Amino acid sequence: MNQMKPSNVGWLVAGLLALAACSAPRDNSAQPAATAVTLASPGGIAATRAGANGRAIFQTGKDLSAVQIVAQPSTVYQSCAACHRADGSGGLHLSGGAVSADLRHKAIVTAQKHPYTVDSLARAISTGVDNESHLLNPVMPHWQLSKQDLHDVAVYVYTQLK
Ligand code: HEC
Repeated sequence: MNQMKPSNVGWLVAGLLALAACSAPRDNSAQPAATAVTLASPGGIAATRAGANGRAIFQTGKDLSAVQIVAQPSTVYQSCAACHRADGSGGLHLSGGAVSADLRHKAIVTAQKHPYTVDSLARAISTGVDNESHLLNPVMPHWQLSKQDLHDVAVYVYTQLK
């Protein structure tokens, strides 16, 4: 009988791991960010699955897999648009004197000394730390999203709210 060489065993293990990764149940966080491909596609980011996912999260609070977004601590508001309006213009007066921020490009990029990036938006959305490294008013929930959902909604805010 053929003895398997240790190096072959290594490849076999790697292969099995790859198979296991492929057959694992769909987990948003395991998917690579598709930015590089999608930004170059016709119709732009909005026409891609990631773009549609970001829009769905912002506007309805459910991602394309119909998973409701949640925050820690939890919030009664079900979507970003519920506080920031569908066009992202914000200005809603909320509890404790908080006013929802204007998320349109001019407000969060053009008019900023330290303009938001997709990464710093993702940080603000998930941890409440803004582009100046200050803590936002806690009325802005700290969203617990999968890596993919967080990325997609940050790209949506960055590129689609004009
Ligand atoms: C309960 C209402 C509410 C919901 C829901 C909400 N936000 Fe906010 N958001 C706020 C408030 C209020 C602020 C302003 C906080 C402050 O002034 O410190 C804010 C600030 C922000 C900021 C920082 C803007 C800046 O100028 O620094 C970002 C980015 C943001 N929200 C994105 C989102 C996204 C994306 C979602 C959905 C995943 C969302 N928000 C859902 C209330 C909300």
